[in-house]
Amino acid sequence: MNILVINGPNLNLLGERESEVYGESTLEELMMWLETSDEGADHKFKFYQSNHEGVIIDTIHDERQWAQGIIINAGALAHYSYAIRDAISGIKIPTVEVHLSNIMEREDFRKISVLRGVCIKQIYGLGKQSYIEGLKILNNNG
Ligand code: DQA
Repeated sequence: MNILVINGPNLNLLGERESEVYGESTLEELMMWLETSDEGADHKFKFYQSNHEGVIIDTIHDERQWAQGIIINAGALAHYSYAIRDAISGIKIPTVEVHLSNIMEREDFRKISVLRGVCIKQIYGLGKQSYIEGLKILNNNG
């Protein structure tokens, strides 16, 4: 399967950003770990990170012919970007929303995800394992 992995705002700072919440791995280490995991075998991956909502939307559009599954950690945009929600619902590619931290046990604004309703599953609170679980959902879906 062709898997598009999108990471949103501030995730480029993983490893140095609030490591007590988000872990010690850099984004590059995390993505390499995902790609080389047992669950990642037999898949092709494309990895994107952007701090800009419009770039994330453009990426979803640009890769919509290639991607057969999407894992997205939209960062804070997950809590309010109806534009990313519309991009996901417009392309009909199975998409899993992931978060490293347990968004249900943090500030109230994080408990709401506007992406949740257009994703086949929402996974949070497992640290980097959230991405592997996302991959497993896509594996079982197709
Ligand atoms: C996050 C959770 C979001 O609330 C936050 O804004 C992030 C990271 C996570 O992976 O836990 O940037 O998506």
